[in-house]
Amino acid sequence: MRNILIAVCGSFTLAACDVPDGAGSSNPLYLPPQGFVGDSVQGELLFNANCLSCHGAEGSGTQFGPPLVHDTYNPRHHADLSFNLAVKNGVRSHHWQFGDMKPVPGVSPEDITHITQYVREQQRMAGIN
Ligand code: HEC
Repeated sequence: MRNILIAVCGSFTLAACDVPDGAGSSNPLYLPPQGFVGDSVQGELLFNANCLSCHGAEGSGTQFGPPLVHDTYNPRHHADLSFNLAVKNGVRSHHWQFGDMKPVPGVSPEDITHITQYVREQQRMAGIN
């Protein structure tokens, strides 16, 4: 895992790599600036790069993680904030049998807001809202 992190961070300066943690300590909920609006087109790209390996194409799930386009994750049961916290802190397995989700490094609060926008759009198209 450490090798993967070094490889991912290698293309940036070390300081840039430190930003998620540094920002995280003064921003415990890992939220973007107030008024920041997510964009589902960017969200799809970010989802595909960071979440698809477990949560599947268009959030349909894989053998490694649950579908996010599922009534369990409707906005009343899992508010948008749960996405920020899941990415920053990881998730202890509680709804499914896939095991824990580890924190996903290198995904900023703004990135998560884009991703959440994309997932909400997929949920709406599936009649989940
Ligand atoms: C290595 C696999 C893996 C990756 C990569 C992954 N997840 Fe997860 N995620 C999981 C698993 C497994 C669970 C289910 C835990 C449980 O049993 O409730 C989960 C649960 C969640 C939840 C539910 C949180 C809650 O409060 O119950 C959200 C939201 C989520 N993931 C978002 C994301 C996003 C956004 C990304 C990409 C930035 C991502 N995940 C990447 C495996 C993964």
